[in-house]
Amino acid sequence: MLVVGGITAVQKLLGTSSRGFGDNISWRTLDDGKKEAEASGLPMMVIVHKTWCGACKALKPKFSESKEISELAHNFIMVNLEDEEEPKDEAFSPDGGYIPRILFLDPTGAVHPEITNKNGNPSYKYFYSNADHVAAGMKEAQEKLTGDAYKQIHVGDEL
Ligand SMILES: *[C@@H]1O[C@H](CO)[C@@H](O)[C@H](O)[C@H]1NC(C)=O
Repeated sequence: MLVVGGITAVQKLLGTSSRGFGDNISWRTLDDGKKEAEASGLPMMVIVHKTWCGACKALKPKFSESKEISELAHNFIMVNLEDEEEPKDEAFSPDGGYIPRILFLDPTGAVHPEITNKNGNPSYKYFYSNADHVAAGMKEAQEKLTGDAYKQIHVGDEL
């Protein structure tokens, strides 16, 4: 039965399907992702989205067709949370519960709200509508949150 649907069916059973955000990316559940981030020292990227949301539907093809995002994704633990998978923890909605929103977490699983969409709407800092802006956020997160780098952020700010 699994053979018929191939990898997609297996990923669906494991709860790690791309949901339209790119089949070249290995998607994790939030719980598995946290364990892997801790073990690997890689930061996490979390996309919160809903099946019925127009802005989410518009972002999916741009995201999934971006070679830059799929390459940068190798340096992240990637998680997408659909519908009721949205975490209740307020750390995942720093400036509101709109969707889609993208949050970056350090390897301990802490959300870093300072990593925002610098090219986007200042009232919705975690909202992304195009692949270039997502890639820019990923580059910033990669630099600031990989391994132990995030531990030095505050020291750097004081200098
Ligand atoms: C996904 O992988 C396939 C096969 O390797 C490749 O042809 C395609 O360009 C990749 N897509 C992206 C967005 O990287």
